[in-house]
Amino acid sequence: MVDRVTPRKLAAGNWKMNGLAAQIVEAQALARACPKPGVGVLLCPPATLLAPMAQALAGSAVALGGQDCHVAEKGAHTGDIAAAMLADAGASHVILGHSERRADHGETSAQVAAKLRSAWKAGLTAIVCLGETAEDRAAGRTLQVVGAQLTASLAEGADAANTVIAYEPVWAIGSGQTPTPEQIAEVHAFLRAHVPDAGMTLLYGGSVNPGNAAAIFAIPGVDGALVGGASLKAVDFGAIVAALEAA
Ligand code: 13P
Repeated sequence: MVDRVTPRKLAAGNWKMNGLAAQIVEAQALARACPKPGVGVLLCPPATLLAPMAQALAGSAVALGGQDCHVAEKGAHTGDIAAAMLADAGASHVILGHSERRADHGETSAQVAAKLRSAWKAGLTAIVCLGETAEDRAAGRTLQVVGAQLTASLAEGADAANTVIAYEPVWAIGSGQTPTPEQIAEVHAFLRAHVPDAGMTLLYGGSVNPGNAAAIFAIPGVDGALVGGASLKAVDFGAIVAALEAA
C-alpha cells in the first residue's frame, strides 16, 4: 500500500559516467554502512555496472537505478538502453531528463514524458530532473522555467508511487555552489503545489555533500537528495544517508 500523504525520504546517488568494476566495492561498503536505513537508498551507476552491482548488493537495502532509458521497448537503436533492460539488470528506478542529458543530447521535456511511460511500463520508478540555469535565475524566471519543465515532462498518470521529482539547478551541479535555503524552499513549495500528487517525493540535487546535507534536509519540502560526486565514495554518501535519516 503506497502512502500518498507522506513522501518517502530518498537518498539517491547518480554516478554519471563514472565507475568501473573495481568501484563495486564502494557500493558494497555503502550497503554495509546502512544495513537497515530508515530512508530509501538508491545508487544509479553506469549501465555497465547494473547487473554486477545487483549481484553484489543482493539482499541489501540499497536499490539500483539507471541514468536514462530509450522511449522504445526494443529495436534498432544502436547504443541505447530500453527500460525493460534496466529492470532486467536489477534496476527499480531510472533517472530521466537530467540537465546533462538535456544539454548533451538535446533531450526535450516532451521526450522525457514519453520515456516516463516506457519506464512505468517496465515497472521502474522515474526520477524526473528539472532546474533552471544561472541565466534563468538572474533573469528572475526560475519558477517559470521549472514550472514549464514540470508540466511538459510529466506524463499523464504520474503519481507518488511511480515518479520522484529532483530539483537540480543547473548552476549548482558540480560547482560547489548551492542555492540559499530560502531559494530551495521556494522552488520546493512551488513544486509541491503543482505536482499531480502532493505525496510525491521531491529531491534537491546540486553539490550536496556530507557538510551541507543536514542543512539542506532541514529545509521544508525537501524529501531527500540526488547526489552526484559525493555518491561515489561510500563514506561520503553514507554520511548523507545518515543526515537524511536524522532529519
Ligand atoms: P553533484 O552532486 O556532483 O553536484 O551532481 C548533482 C547531480 O547532477 C545529480 O544528478
